[in-house]
Amino acid sequence: MNVYDSEQILQRLQTIGYRQCDSPDKADLIVLNTCAIREKAEQKVYSFLGRQAKRKQHRPELLVAVGGCVAQQEGRRLLERIPHLDLVFGTHAVGRLAGHVERIRKNGGRIVDVDMDGGGAIFDGLEPLDAPSGPSRFVTIMQGCDNFCTYCVVPYVRGREVSRPPSQILSEIRALAGSGVREVTLLGQNVNSYGAKEGYGSFADLLKKVSGIDGLARIRFTTSHPKDLSDELIDCFAALDRLCRHIHLPVQSGSDRVLKRMNRRYRRADYLDKVGRLRSVCPDIGITSDFIVGFPGESDEDFADTIDLMRSVQFDGVFAFQYSDRPSAPASGFAGKIDDTVKKRRLAELLDLQETITLCKNRALVGSVQQVMAEGPSKKNYFQEAHRTALWTGRTPQNRIVHFALDTPTHGGGMMAPGTILNVRIEEAFSHSLRGTPEIERPNQHGRKGVDSHAA
Ligand code: 5AD
Ligand code: SF4
Repeated sequence: MNVYDSEQILQRLQTIGYRQCDSPDKADLIVLNTCAIREKAEQKVYSFLGRQAKRKQHRPELLVAVGGCVAQQEGRRLLERIPHLDLVFGTHAVGRLAGHVERIRKNGGRIVDVDMDGGGAIFDGLEPLDAPSGPSRFVTIMQGCDNFCTYCVVPYVRGREVSRPPSQILSEIRALAGSGVREVTLLGQNVNSYGAKEGYGSFADLLKKVSGIDGLARIRFTTSHPKDLSDELIDCFAALDRLCRHIHLPVQSGSDRVLKRMNRRYRRADYLDKVGRLRSVCPDIGITSDFIVGFPGESDEDFADTIDLMRSVQFDGVFAFQYSDRPSAPASGFAGKIDDTVKKRRLAELLDLQETITLCKNRALVGSVQQVMAEGPSKKNYFQEAHRTALWTGRTPQNRIVHFALDTPTHGGGMMAPGTILNVRIEEAFSHSLRGTPEIERPNQHGRKGVDSHAA
């Protein structure tokens, strides 16, 4: 979501003549888009902003702006705390950003805009970037959240849930597909309740419409709240070919007592039931999740329930976090705060167990052929003169990362259009990725032979 918001920020600034540059030292304007979800993310904001003081001393004409959730949460306090800051714009102010920057350029002064619009005004003028930067793009389908989990700051900094009209979403995706984008990820805090308030039809309805758009090869979505995961949506995993077989389904805890105090409004048994249904409809679905350890009052027994849930579900990957107090979230006032050392120990135990599970699941894939969408040269890219290979990265429908070698003579000098889908035989498994070799002669998922070209 933050990546998407940053793209929107860039888009707005381009309308008044700004261009992205590759170093803050060359910038006339530095925009920091911030996250307030955990304390650590917020601390990073202050250390980054602190470092800009020197830059601004050297170049007083430089403008420094802060947007996103920390901006929304702190508002004017940010200006008071950071004397070299020019602009604070909240989560609903992106559409007004260009005007604010121009005003400061012309008249000087400092601006705080943390007004929250009601209704759907937040989506006005949302546009895809002019030039898609790769084969995959995010598309926001809703903003805000009405769930009020007791640890979470999102409903306070992003406001109430508002869904974007289907016509707007579909025309954005059609435009993206027309310009070569092959994969879209539909974004919302809780996509399962998409359109419920507005009467737009269900999220499953939207998925069905998106999957009819020409040129798209893959559709993903995130995030799903377990309490709202419907049978209709679960059935989409079997019915829609282009829907990737992956779901991110944050569970947060395996203890009913903790889930209740978190206000998650499902029980452990409900969660396990939904996982069972997903797997019966789509046996090879990848399931990933989020966990919080050390929620106030979490006992050793509660934590043991979480470990037990992790063992029984056998997730394909997880994100796990130590609980941190967030201003305005009710749990910050809960009794029974857990010691940092206990949180650390629990987090390490959880991540260790998951690492064993992922490695074991990845090893079981050695020898199999996976459909991989090539994203680009691997970050750890190397070019081996001796073997004339280049290392590329892509993802399976289950969202597993696969590194594969491109053989120079067969693949046009180790080059290939990002977005190409190819069959890769898996040869080696690691705890966070797989490595394999493309199968050149086998038909791919569209029944065509060889490497599926970007334009096909
Ligand atoms: N402390 C720790 N983790 C949190 N998350 C949300 N709020 C907090 C908090 N106060 C985690 C949840 C959520 C993910 C995006 O961040 O696991 O799913
Ligand atoms: Fe936060 Fe809960 Fe909403 Fe997710 S569903 S954004 S955790 S309040």
